[in-house]
Amino acid sequence: MAGITDQSFRCMVKGFGVSLMFSELVSAEGLVRNSAKTKTLLVFSEKERPIGIQVFGCRPDAMSEAVKIVAPLSPELIDLNFGCPSKKVVNGGSGAAVLKDLKLMKTIVRSVVNAVDTPVSCKIRSGWDESSVVAPEAARIIEGEGACMITVHPRTRMQGFSGSADWHLIRQVKATVSIPVIGNGDVSSPRDAKRMLDTTGCDAVMVGRAVMGRPWICSKIDHFLRTGELLPDLSFEDRVRVCIQHYHLALEKLGASRGLREMRKHIGWYLKGMPGVSRMRSHLMTVDDPQEVIHQLMDFAGSFIE
Ligand SMILES: Cc1cc2nc3c(=O)[nH]c(=O)nc-3n(C[C@H](O)[C@H](O)[C@H](O)COP(=O)(O)O)c2cc1C
Repeated sequence: MAGITDQSFRCMVKGFGVSLMFSELVSAEGLVRNSAKTKTLLVFSEKERPIGIQVFGCRPDAMSEAVKIVAPLSPELIDLNFGCPSKKVVNGGSGAAVLKDLKLMKTIVRSVVNAVDTPVSCKIRSGWDESSVVAPEAARIIEGEGACMITVHPRTRMQGFSGSADWHLIRQVKATVSIPVIGNGDVSSPRDAKRMLDTTGCDAVMVGRAVMGRPWICSKIDHFLRTGELLPDLSFEDRVRVCIQHYHLALEKLGASRGLREMRKHIGWYLKGMPGVSRMRSHLMTVDDPQEVIHQLMDFAGSFIE
């Protein structure tokens, strides 16, 4: 997830037993232009494996050049984004906009698969709008061009994140192709994950927004799927302690100034719903010294010890 699943966040989630993670989406044009900022998104550590690096773009040549830059890093997967709904991305013809032109999508997948030995997967939405739902057709093409896996987020581009994900479409895609299908959309609890697996027949479940401020959700899901037992949620104290751990990782990976800024939104998510949080949160948003933030968070965690 762009702006969320950076390296420090991925290291956090990995500690909670997630089986596969993806980078933030990386611009093919940025890579081809040798943009230093774009290249920072490619950095990952061995312990984050297995990892997919996700690339977006709409020019087949640029896409194949870009994945040749990614492949030497040996990610387990190179994932092509055909789902991003953001204006910045679709106005350039990339992300979900590619679903409006399946011939173009086909050419992109073909040129990328031919360019590298790394397995290639694709992430798609339902289609552009409700009158052009193309996920099963797109999936058939993607499989035909040699991709090894598809993730389906069954909302149209026009839906953005509104309404609910149409899981029937995941089932339809699963019935259309033989390669593994990852279901995605609105899974925020262990029961949701099981329901998605049971009702769609998908091979795996991808969790997006529910990991924000709750990176431990994947271990709860995994435990439930294996044992049928619902683990209790973390205590307020433990949630703040996970936030502090994440904070240290962010400072280490991003440096003090960026780490402090990037962590502000995460702190908001971690502390959401805790008693006494609003004053604490608005105060923390103004503190400019990372050590002071950590100190305040430790005090806050301590306030929950009975
Ligand atoms: C802030 C934000 C950033 C996202 N960035 C990406 C991205 O870079 N690549 C991608 O494939 N999906 C991205 N997504 C979409 C999610 O991966 C996922 O498909 C979507 O949120 C639906 O799943 P969920 O209901 O589990 O969140 C993003 C979503 C959000 C909210």
